[in-house]
Amino acid sequence: MPVEPRDARSDKEGRNMDNLLTIQRAQAAPPCTVVIFGASGDLAKRKLIPSMYNLVACGEGMMPPKSAVLGFARREMSLDDFRKSAHDWTARFSRLKVDEACWARFAGNLDYLSGLDRPDGFTKLKAKLEALEKARGLPPNRVYYLAIPPTAIGDSVERLAKAGLIYPPDAPHFSRVVVEKPIGHDLPSALEINRTMVKYLDESQIFRIDHYLGKETVQNLLALRFSNNIFERLWGARNVDHVQITVAEAEGVGSRAMYYDHSGALRDMVQNHILQTLALLTMEAPVSLDSSAIRDAKLNVLRTLRPIMPADARANTVRARYAAGVDADGKPVQGYMDEPGIADNSRIETFVALKAYIDNWRWSGVPFFIRTGKRTKARASSIYVQFKDVPQILFNRGSTVPANALTIRIQPDEGFSFDVMTKRPGLDLVLQPVRMNLSYNAAFGDGASPEGYERLLLDVMDGDHTLFISAPFVEKSWEFVQGILDSWSDGARVPLVEYPAGSWGPKEADDLIRTAGRVWHEP
Ligand code: BG6
Repeated sequence: MPVEPRDARSDKEGRNMDNLLTIQRAQAAPPCTVVIFGASGDLAKRKLIPSMYNLVACGEGMMPPKSAVLGFARREMSLDDFRKSAHDWTARFSRLKVDEACWARFAGNLDYLSGLDRPDGFTKLKAKLEALEKARGLPPNRVYYLAIPPTAIGDSVERLAKAGLIYPPDAPHFSRVVVEKPIGHDLPSALEINRTMVKYLDESQIFRIDHYLGKETVQNLLALRFSNNIFERLWGARNVDHVQITVAEAEGVGSRAMYYDHSGALRDMVQNHILQTLALLTMEAPVSLDSSAIRDAKLNVLRTLRPIMPADARANTVRARYAAGVDADGKPVQGYMDEPGIADNSRIETFVALKAYIDNWRWSGVPFFIRTGKRTKARASSIYVQFKDVPQILFNRGSTVPANALTIRIQPDEGFSFDVMTKRPGLDLVLQPVRMNLSYNAAFGDGASPEGYERLLLDVMDGDHTLFISAPFVEKSWEFVQGILDSWSDGARVPLVEYPAGSWGPKEADDLIRTAGRVWHEP
């Protein structure tokens, strides 16, 4: 990704923008067909179709012209019905309001094929793609987006290859496969999926997606750390007291019981989104902005993440599920066990808290407190970096001066703030904490941030791997998570506790951090 200074210019308020840096796309993405496997599933509804629409929509116009989107699923559905459903999903979940003229353009790019589960499904897919490309004058560039359960990934890749739908990596056109997290259910199944994928695909054709890497604030971790001189000098054990990462969701399990009741918060959030965020937050400066350099730097963090073993699991992990309580609007809601589709004997957690350590030179001894859960008091994800106290002399003598803290708000209200102490104006010497705050909405305008999926879909079409997960990262992250899963497996070592819906989690999570002499910071 070359970094080029933009031409001198002014913005609409007349501010000089000479010092803007644009990390440009090397070239416009070539036209292609994106095949969405599982096109009537939850992910396609909530994220993929709305993101594709946003890429096409008038203001954005980023999707390569003529490109097509082909829904491929088990269910029989007419093209008209697929287009109608896609409109409803977009109206409900897109960050942009549906503009009917743009929609008409987008709908013209949509097509549908059923038979994903049938023996001749992939032969039909091949014929459909060829017909579609001929009709639209499209080159046979293809992106296969596997929005399907992890157990079906290996089989679909094999069937794609056997149907002749995967080209050699040096072919004049591309065939790329996007796989969703979680890749696997545990370490052995993740290894198995990776083995199947590399049997049929070159690594350059595999895009392992984690939509948190497409989020503006997560990408901004790189910019914040490495385009400002002040943070890097403070970043590490010498100056940081501890770090908190909170990913809290007000929503419950909703209609996803079939997937979630086999997964739980550790596999669903920690193994991927949270470890990715942790890696970007703590990695050493990569040697360049190349995708391999960034991936290597992130992987090095996981190599030094201290494993959590059965003997220390109780002191360092909490697992819980929500009981009845209230939602974010204060309305009564049922507990996890009463949600539709949850097994009577379910032992799945909807909340996890961890204390982790990165045993490398930079972070030695700094505790990282991590928590994520569903049905929390509010939807709020943030990273909180608390710096060490000033020495106990001058202002800190006899009374406690609150420590400086940097809070990076991932969502909602994206932005960051810095807590500092200042003297309150007046004749007395009174110190007061104040917050320096940057809100993305205020600085860049409401709705300026694209959805993570928009950015990542475009990167797949561009062939840019920077924001995708490498196979070794998947394996290392599973190794860490597998240690915890094994520690929890007997059920008694770390009991599954409950928290009321509408709270920030169970009392045990408060105890975990309190025992370490800290408290959770409200995200
Ligand atoms: C998904 C998880 O990967 O991320 C969901 O499977 C979770 O359970 C979602 O709700 C959270 O994404 P976001 O972008 O809403 O924070």
